[in-house]
Amino acid sequence: MDVQKRLERLETYQDRLRRLQQIEKNRAFCRHDLAHMEKCAEIGQWMKRENGLAYSDGTILLCALLHDLGRVEEYESGADHRMASAELADGLLRELEVSEEERRKILRAIRSHGRRKDAARMWYARKRIRTLEGLLRFSDQFSRPCYRCRARRECKWREDEKIPRIKERFREDVPWQS
Ligand SMILES: [Fe+2]
Ligand SMILES: [Fe+2]
Repeated sequence: MDVQKRLERLETYQDRLRRLQQIEKNRAFCRHDLAHMEKCAEIGQWMKRENGLAYSDGTILLCALLHDLGRVEEYESGADHRMASAELADGLLRELEVSEEERRKILRAIRSHGRRKDAARMWYARKRIRTLEGLLRFSDQFSRPCYRCRARRECKWREDEKIPRIKERFREDVPWQS
């Protein structure tokens, strides 16, 4: 059974996804749902191939599927969601019997995600990405379709952080943007 199916069988994981969906159901801005996590995985796996990196698709997938679970704590008590996500992910990765080395790498990436940068600079620097942290940061930000977002004007992201349509802005094709 693949790792996503195994993760989805864990009650803690399902419970998180349900709670997040419930909390964010009227949110005008980007959600932190399964679609977001799967988009992050898709972009991360694409970028790994582009850059010829050795991380397994499974590692990148786990990292993406777990990185925002702590949004629940952030909404409920103002806690830093990266730390809350890492704590939860630690338990889930142990349940999945992921090796200690892989678990550490994933947790490090989860703890350090979430700092947005200028999207154009990120795009032009993408070929230098070598780490799982780098993959997650890039895929997390670029997973957002700001170019067709209705809440774009009210969004707290700086204009230069918002994600453009890559084909129009950079004249390059990517398989993960519609
Ligand atoms: Fe996040
Ligand atoms: Fe995220």
